[in-house]
Amino acid sequence: MKIRSNVKILLFGILPMMAAFSALADEPVDADAAMKVARSESCLRCHGVSKKKEGPSYTVIAAFYKSNPDAVDVIYEHITTGPKVKLTDGHKEKHKAILDKSPEEIRNLVRWILAQ
Ligand code: HEC
Repeated sequence: MKIRSNVKILLFGILPMMAAFSALADEPVDADAAMKVARSESCLRCHGVSKKKEGPSYTVIAAFYKSNPDAVDVIYEHITTGPKVKLTDGHKEKHKAILDKSPEEIRNLVRWILAQ
């Protein structure tokens, strides 16, 4: 009896809960919308998806943040506040900040970058 009720807890309690959590983490990324924002905000001028330009490629950034649970928040902050960054010629300037897009659009862009 005891074993059976444990199985029940697992089947009807924990597993659906885990599925719900991973569904949250996996909210779908709209790649077309993300690239449209990246293009219109001139992100792609300095970041290739897999090619290094003035800034690191998005595949390198995604790999760097792979096991960081705060990745979305950190990058969101980076691309909305524009901290100082160093360019290849050594001079520093404020990083591009997105000011005219909704939080949802920016989050989608961040999650697209992290999926590269
Ligand atoms: C003028 C060139 C330039 C433009 C335009 C630019 N970036 Fe960057 N970006 C950089 C450089 C350089 C770095 C590297 C900063 C460093 O490593 O200190 C960087 C870093 C980043 C990072 C990594 C941040 C981190 O905390 O590790 C992300 C993500 C990023 N950029 C996204 C974007 C997005 C999105 C846009 C468009 C809104 C954008 N960048 C526009 C040059 C640029």
